[in-house]
Order: sequence, then structure tokens, then C-alpha cells
Amino acid sequence: MNTLLSDSAPTPAGGNSLGQTLTIRGGRPLVGRVDVKGAKNLATKAMVASLLGETASILRDVPEISDVHVVRSLLEVHGVEVTELEDGVLKLDPSGAVSANFEEIDAHAGASRIPILFCGPLLHLLHQAFIPDLGGCRIGDRPIDFHLDALRSFGAIVEKQPSGIRLSAPNGLHGANIELPYPSVGATEQVLLTAVRAKGTTELRNAAIEPEIMDLIAVLQKMGAIISYEPNRVIFIEGVESLRGYDHRSIFDRNEAASWACAALATDGDIFVAGAKQQEMLTFLNVFRKVGGDFDIAEDGIRFRRGGALKPVTVETDVHPGFMTDWQQPLIVALTQAEGESIVHETVYENRLGFTRALVQMGADIVVHPEGIANSDRRVPRRALEQAAVINGPTPLHAADVVVPDLRGGYSYVIAALAAEGESTVRNIGIIRRGYEKFLEKLTALGADFDVTD
Ligand code: EPU
Repeated sequence: MNTLLSDSAPTPAGGNSLGQTLTIRGGRPLVGRVDVKGAKNLATKAMVASLLGETASILRDVPEISDVHVVRSLLEVHGVEVTELEDGVLKLDPSGAVSANFEEIDAHAGASRIPILFCGPLLHLLHQAFIPDLGGCRIGDRPIDFHLDALRSFGAIVEKQPSGIRLSAPNGLHGANIELPYPSVGATEQVLLTAVRAKGTTELRNAAIEPEIMDLIAVLQKMGAIISYEPNRVIFIEGVESLRGYDHRSIFDRNEAASWACAALATDGDIFVAGAKQQEMLTFLNVFRKVGGDFDIAEDGIRFRRGGALKPVTVETDVHPGFMTDWQQPLIVALTQAEGESIVHETVYENRLGFTRALVQMGADIVVHPEGIANSDRRVPRRALEQAAVINGPTPLHAADVVVPDLRGGYSYVIAALAAEGESTVRNIGIIRRGYEKFLEKLTALGADFDVTD
């Protein structure tokens, strides 16, 4: 069976498994080992990069998640032949790439935000692109103005239509001088994927420098691109005439690794996360230690557990090398068990603390300040769109009936339910499969007690 298209992943348009429900009997620690594969936030982008090559690419450690399924399906409607050589290894052959028809592309509307990254490669290949309305998690406005402005700087003509965005580049694309208003991950990837084959040199300032971006640069360099970067968020790209396919093993998913680490804290468990690496998680590990967590770094992974009573912390989410916005949700579940007041400032998205309402329903003491709160001792300059959550603990968590709102919020509901006494119901768990591979199998391996129903 083709595991990347197995029935455990929802269909691009949503699919049945989105509606699945977990009944969780909590109050026991999660103990054991989980394997973390390639990062969702690299694998999907590397798949798009394959469109730029003149020969086939091979991507290893591809996670079995629905975001990968969506990108695979979009590549296939554009004529890319995708074959699974073995479990987690994809061959992507773009030699038959063609313009897709509107209906085929539109079937993916609302399924993921990755389609926006098809723009540059499709413009190079076909001189035109159509991008459906974008999906992804509902965690704020998530505009695409940086992407469209960058594409215009390369010479693309951008037409917004009711059903999506039509782009064309009848005269090809040329290098550009771009400064991002904010070090956006997606916009940096957009510039990289477009500049590598544009005519001339591109200078990108205020670029994102997340490890997944560095891994994408490594992929593009294997393809023949010339990309250099300087310490102050400046990236130079010298456009080349042609690129070839790559053979690459994806960087590990540090968001998933951090999620299991927080699950160990929240349930007072002991989890070995195989595949996790220290370097890319330094900032997380500092916070994990300050909260009272203990960890052992091994060659093949990291073991996470409590080192004593949990302690409160103040955390500000930020772009790399700061504390990632994708780490705060499971951390907040653990902070409900820390003695005293913790504060989490969310500075990346304007609406990424709403998930805490369900934790309050489960007995947590969390107050969200939608306009943020003043705190003189801040590392991150205050952003207009930030929010803050104040968590007072410890509060015992009890069972509740909750509905998954988004990927990271959903994961945190599951670990809250596992930490809580009693039988909880967590609905709409398909969203969690957008980013957590073999999620239910891993929970079973860790000794979680649950049933799943459609
Ligand atoms: N932004 C704009 N205009 C743009 C693009 C971004 O205003 O054109 C703003 C966003 O609204 C947000 C901020 O810039 O306030 C940062 O957004 P960014 O572009 O960096 O995020 P992204 O590329 O859309 C990726 C990950 C997210 C992760 C963020 C931050 C993927 C597919 N998604 O999103 O991952 O939270 O970077 O690291 O790579 C997740 O995995 O759960 C997830 C949401």
C-alpha cells in the first residue's frame, strides 16, 4: 500500500477522517519512544522545489501527513510523476510538468497554504500559474502580501480573482532587491524558490533563517543554485540557467519533537524522541529546563521527562533563533501544572491563543490579553498584533468535550486530556494529521488509553 496516501490521512479537501473523535481516559503518564521523521515545514517545500529541476529528485524521511498528501496531489495535477520508492522516500519527476486545469487545482482550495509556493517554479516552467484560495490553520489573518509583492519585484503580473490568484510572466523573471517587512518563513521561501532561476542576482534583506529554510537552501544548492547568506538576515541568490534534481534527507521535525517533550512534562511521563537533535532545539531546551524539565541528549535522539516540580516561566514567541510560535501550545498545557504565574507572549500571529478556552473548560486558570500586556523585560520588540496568556498553576485538569481548532492547538488538547483525570472527548482530530505523523500509533506506543470513532 502507498502509505503516504493511506486511509489515515484526510483527503485534500477535508475528507472523512477530519471528523474522527478520540475518547481519552487520562491521568496516566506517557512513557516510551516515538520516532520523529522529516519536518512538515521542510518536506512540503522541498517537494515544490522538485518542479525546478530538469531531472527527478529524491526526498527521504518524508512524513506521512496530510499536508504532504496535498502537495503531492498538486504536483501530480501539474504533471509531476510522484512515486514512493520505499516507506518515506519519494521520487519526484517533473519532466512531464504541464499547466493544470482550473478544476483540478481548485479541488485543493482551502486545504493548505503551500500552494502559494508553487508560483515561482510554475512561472519559470510554464510562464503562468493559478493558485487557489489558501487554507492552513485559522490562526490569524495570515495574509500573502509579502509573497505577492516579492513576485511583482521579480516581474510577475499578479491578478487577484474571486477564486484565487492568476500570475503570469510573459517575459520571464529577473533578479530583485527585496526587503521583507517581517522575517516571514513563507515569503523567504517564495523568494528563494523564485530567485534561483531568475535572470540576474537577488538580494533579500530581513529574511527568515529558520533551520528549515537553511535546509531548503541546502536542497537548492544540491540542485545547482548559488545562494549565500550573511549574519544580518541577508541572503544573496545568483540566478542560474537550469537546475537538476536533488537527493536529500529532510531535517527532522523539531515542532513534533517539542510537542512530545511537552507531553512528557504535562503527563509527568518519560519520552525518548528518536531523531530529535540538540542544535536546532537549543532555545526550546533552555525553556524546557527552566520549566523544570530534564533531558538527556543521545546520538540518536533526546529523552524528555520532569526533573522535579514544574516552575513558572515567561516566554515570548519569535522568529528563529527565538522560541517558535508552534511550541507555545503544548508548553501552555505543561505550564498549567507549574507552581505560580507564567506568561506567554505570542508575537508571531495575532490569534494563536484562542485554543486556551478549552483548557480553561478543563480546569486551567488562563487569562488571555488580546492586546498583549506590558512587560519591561522583553527581548522581542512589541508587535501591534501580539497577544499574551497568563497561566496560574498548578490546577488539576479534568475531563471535557472539546473540538480541535487547529494543528498545534489540537495536539495540546490531546495531551491535556491525557493529563486530565476522567474520560475526555476530543473531536475533529483529522486536523492533527496535517502535521503529526502516525499520531494515534505513537500515542498507543506511549501507553495512552483511548478509543477512536468516526
Ligand atoms: N505575514 C504577513 N504577510 C505575508 C506573510 C506573512 O503579514 O505575506 C505575517 C503572518 O500573518 C504572521 C507572520 O507574518 O503574522 C509570520 O508568518 P510566516 O510567513 O513566517 O508564516 P508561514 O510561512 O505562513 C510557517 C509555518 C508555520 C509557522 C510559521 C512561523 C509552514 C507551512 N508553516 O508559516 O507553521 O508557525 O512559519 O514559524 O511552514 C504549523 O506548523 O503549525 C504552522 C502554522
